[in-house]
Amino acid sequence: MTADARLEDYFSQIADTRAFAHEAAKRLDLDHLRIVAHHADRSTLDIVANVLWSLCPAQARTVHPSLDQLVSSLPIIPQYDKLMRRWILDLADAGLLERREHGFDCASLASRPAPGADNPHFEGISTILLDVLRGRHHILEYVFGSLRPPWFAAYTAASYDADPVFAYQHSIVARLVAHLAARTTPDRPIRIVEIGAGMGGLTARLLPVLPAASHYLYTDVTRGFIDQAQARFADVTIDLRFALYDMNRSPAENGLSLGAFDAVVAFDVLHCARHLGRTLAWLRSLLRPGGLLINEQLTRNRPGHLIIPGVMPGFTDFEDERLAHCRTLLTPDEWRSKLAETGFADACLLPDDADLLNELGHGIIIARNPG
Ligand SMILES: C[S@@+](CC[C@H](N)C(=O)[O-])C[C@H]1O[C@@H](n2cnc3c(N)ncnc32)[C@H](O)[C@@H]1O
Repeated sequence: MTADARLEDYFSQIADTRAFAHEAAKRLDLDHLRIVAHHADRSTLDIVANVLWSLCPAQARTVHPSLDQLVSSLPIIPQYDKLMRRWILDLADAGLLERREHGFDCASLASRPAPGADNPHFEGISTILLDVLRGRHHILEYVFGSLRPPWFAAYTAASYDADPVFAYQHSIVARLVAHLAARTTPDRPIRIVEIGAGMGGLTARLLPVLPAASHYLYTDVTRGFIDQAQARFADVTIDLRFALYDMNRSPAENGLSLGAFDAVVAFDVLHCARHLGRTLAWLRSLLRPGGLLINEQLTRNRPGHLIIPGVMPGFTDFEDERLAHCRTLLTPDEWRSKLAETGFADACLLPDDADLLNELGHGIIIARNPG
């Protein structure tokens, strides 16, 4: 295939996948999703207000500290300073923390709603956050370890495997991956690497559309996720391998060859990069010419992402231009610029910019390694 024909083929795959996405969207109750998102954001802010009030030292409750003063007065480990900045600014924007001329009136947090008002896990999540922010425990002790409360598995499953928006997004990615796979042959099988595959929600949707000869490399920076995935996917018959991969390091440091993959897929993870531009350039170097980055991504800094996702590994590791506002997530336009800056071409957003999912802060960003 010539380069022009490959490009035309790419756009025809995108057009088919977009049409599929629009059809599948008809089965979503979009009004209901909008209401759920609104409630999730509101109850998250209530939890954030509750936790911030518990952390606030007595002296910060009586004066009006500046943002810097308030953050540095909190008894938390430094890795969460950026998250606290976002909490404080978002609470102020939502009117739950009053701004004063030179700072914030923390006493206004005392009028937060009663615990449990809108969320059955209000107390449980607040307790976990207080422990994690103070550095008494790591969040992964709650995710995998002995500290995991009985309700936590169902809570995280509801946020991932059982979430209708993520299921919808995964089905779109599966459609596109099926297109890619259909263009490969047993002697030139498709090769996919997934970055930050975590609990394997996207993987579980992609494996069934892959032909028997496919190669799939399941990676994460966290050993616990790899161990869990090896058990979850023990019966898979394609060549599914598992490896630790840190996207803050080069492919060579991670032991991977350049240009080896037809697709790099990622779900809800690339925003965890310390320097996003550097990571995107490294991921591009993993792709063969014409290979695709398929990035299922949160694209709006909604309060709902500020609690458990906010303390998960990587969420506030950024050390790039995001330091200016402490917002982890990029908008679709920011993604397009970042991808162009790092040598990707022909970036597309699925379903599309006018979609309600875009309004809710979800999207699939796809870009090609030119060639
Ligand atoms: C919010 S979870 C993403 C969900 C995951 N894709 C899933 O389906 O469960 C973020 C994931 O990114 C991983 N992660 C964080 N920092 C990373 C890094 N530097 N390199 C690779 N993965 C990373 C975490 O271990 C975690 O699995």
